[in-house]
Amino acid sequence: MRILVVQEDNAIRNGVSVLLEIDLAAEVVGVAKSEDALATLQSNPLVIYDALVCNDAKENEPLLAFLKEHSPATRVFTLKNPKAKAVLSFPDQIVGSVNPLNLTEEVKALFKEKIPTLKPVASDDEEQNYCRVRALGAMQKSPLNFDLFVRLSAKKFVRVFKEGDVFTEKDVTAFLEKKKIEYLYFLKADAIKYAASLREDLEKAAKGADTNPEGATRAAVSAHEAVMELGNKIGFTPEVQALAKQGMLSTLRAVGGSSKPQLGKILKGIIAKKEEYIGYHAILTGQIACSLANGMEWSSDTTYQKLTFAAFFHDMVLTNGALAQVGSVSELETRKSEFTEEEQKRFRFHTLTAAQIINTFSEVPADVSVIISQHHEKPDGSGFPRGLAGQNIAPLSALFIIAHDLVGYIFEHGTEGIETFFADYKAKYSMGHFRKILSQIDIGKLGV
Ligand SMILES: [Fe+2]
Ligand SMILES: [Fe+2]
Repeated sequence: MRILVVQEDNAIRNGVSVLLEIDLAAEVVGVAKSEDALATLQSNPLVIYDALVCNDAKENEPLLAFLKEHSPATRVFTLKNPKAKAVLSFPDQIVGSVNPLNLTEEVKALFKEKIPTLKPVASDDEEQNYCRVRALGAMQKSPLNFDLFVRLSAKKFVRVFKEGDVFTEKDVTAFLEKKKIEYLYFLKADAIKYAASLREDLEKAAKGADTNPEGATRAAVSAHEAVMELGNKIGFTPEVQALAKQGMLSTLRAVGGSSKPQLGKILKGIIAKKEEYIGYHAILTGQIACSLANGMEWSSDTTYQKLTFAAFFHDMVLTNGALAQVGSVSELETRKSEFTEEEQKRFRFHTLTAAQIINTFSEVPADVSVIISQHHEKPDGSGFPRGLAGQNIAPLSALFIIAHDLVGYIFEHGTEGIETFFADYKAKYSMGHFRKILSQIDIGKLGV
């Protein structure tokens, strides 16, 4: 299958192309302008495109007219806001329109529905039918409300506990200590049940007397891990969204809820487990971002919620811990051999994919997807995917980026020498909204 994508915005064009390549195994050609697309078609009349994806805009009319005459089998998908009135009207050719803010699911669904010959990328990996859960967490739930399996190979899973089983001390020791089993699995069919029960546990813990920040951080990290696994396996259903919300609240609870989170205090009680990088770095970024907001006097509950939500989801599609630790596209280039082609593509566009996911959530403020989509931008324009500079990076995004970079430093070097981190950082990035935020961070007062 060959698809032509016409899109002026570089990042959107690349994002759409990657999704189509990965999810539909399509060969994608991307061009910026309608006239470039027309020139491409005219210069290679023997190359037939199965589909064209372009904006619902007047300037594409000549392109559609050309296709109608010379390549009537090419199906056209327009990118448009579902609430907006359609501009282009070629009823035979336009088979559907998709919302550019929710590309992932809509593009996939429409392509599958409208092009029946298309086969989704086949996977013979049996893991697709199971969800992974940390053995330690799974064995805290007794009696069990679903069956649990161990994985013997990529295709072989064996049931070790069934619904209703009660764990004994002996079971726990045997699995965790003797057999050193880190993960157990449950059937995808039980995913919603699992999400609901984990959310209830978190709610109970939140209402309980236990206000220990370490416990709340751990709870937030396990919610993060579960949301990531479930979201990537069954999609971000309302149950998974509710679990994510509870995880976000646990993140806030760990920094003292609505009371003002202090950076110095967070740094003192820090847990940065390298072997659980994805979860811990996400939760820690949320907590540090809230403390920076507090220092800026942006200390409202809404701001804290936006920052923790953004932190919870910013790397949601990067399930490989090593990949999530990559900081830039140039670093990715030098570490290419460690990752598959698909992982590299996922990394390049993970900010946009995660922003699209959050746009499908109910009751999440728009700023959250902006923060997520900008979390790898840099004020000197050297970031990705858009290379935004200075004031083009939103204030809350700037604050989030500083928190995220600090967390990256802490995972590598610990809290020792963060004065040097800030001094270097200020020298390099005191521009745009970063300048004001950085000028308010007083290392002397942090007590680290
Ligand atoms: Fe990250
Ligand atoms: Fe990231």
